[in-house]
Amino acid sequence: MSAEFPYVRPRRLRSTPAMRRLVAETRLHPAELILPLFVREGVREPVPVASMPGVVQHTRETLRKAVTEAAEAGLGGVMLFGVPETQDATGTEGTNPDGILQQAIRDVVAEVGDALVVMSDLCLDEYTDHGHCGVLAADGSVDNDATLERYAEMARVQADAGVHLVGPSGMMDGQIAVVRKALDEAGHQDVGILAYTAKYASAFYGPFREAIGSSLKGDRKAYQQDPANAREALRELELDLAEGADLVMVKPGMAYLDILRQIADASPVPVSAYQVSGEYAMVEAAAANGWIDRERMILETLTSLRRAGAEQILTYWAVEAAAMVK
Ligand code: PBG
Repeated sequence: MSAEFPYVRPRRLRSTPAMRRLVAETRLHPAELILPLFVREGVREPVPVASMPGVVQHTRETLRKAVTEAAEAGLGGVMLFGVPETQDATGTEGTNPDGILQQAIRDVVAEVGDALVVMSDLCLDEYTDHGHCGVLAADGSVDNDATLERYAEMARVQADAGVHLVGPSGMMDGQIAVVRKALDEAGHQDVGILAYTAKYASAFYGPFREAIGSSLKGDRKAYQQDPANAREALRELELDLAEGADLVMVKPGMAYLDILRQIADASPVPVSAYQVSGEYAMVEAAAANGWIDRERMILETLTSLRRAGAEQILTYWAVEAAAMVK
């Protein structure tokens, strides 16, 4: 190299805030953020989730306020999780037309109408006393096909309550097809499916189990995916598309950016990512100790999910992040 070395200087494009803004490939927008919300039956005050500072189990009243705030923040949508007073072996409250999630859906749709896309978790773990995402066979394993019948019923009651998108998250084989069929047969052709397509058996869901009061002992490794595997995520994608998924999701987020990129490259439908409870808790805990810059960490993790191919992001920071990027 001659005296002019280095004549290629990538630093030029990093030199000022204006220059960096000009060349940024990835931007965050409030409309692509989705806020997960918990609503608990039979409480008069919101109940804080200790492992997720800033997150609460809402009452029906405070849920209405939270979704109004979400709409005002310009978010794309909300994902609702019900926390029932009673749990049993088959998750009866999940299909009770007056169960807490169904009431919450009606409340939220009445409150915000079409200003937000209203989504609901379609899974049994919030409602079962053993904490699994399905009903159990005699040997204690999760019975796939018996669970599908419960999911079909859940899809009907959630759609009857007025939800816009259901989010089947139980990782049962055939769940998208069964939900699609149930919705169509009940006249809910317009209700869409946000499929949890690649959902891993992850330790990152730890705080969520507290948030829904889950009594799970053991794990979900016999139905959620093995963190060691990428290929099966593409197989799940093919199946979910063939069965009628309208959007596909990867979950968790940060530890699965490679999966997200592969799904984003292969998917003809929108791709979402779920920044889950453990990702939130890690950042909040480190920030509370003064070990990291909380706001920068929030924006960096969300930007990384976007960059890896997520077009929608479920995040417990949705309202705050929307304000940051406005
Ligand atoms: C299942 C469900 C879970 C999460 C969302 N839907 C828990 C699980 O599969 O164990 C986790 C979300 C989070 O950790 O933030 N209903």
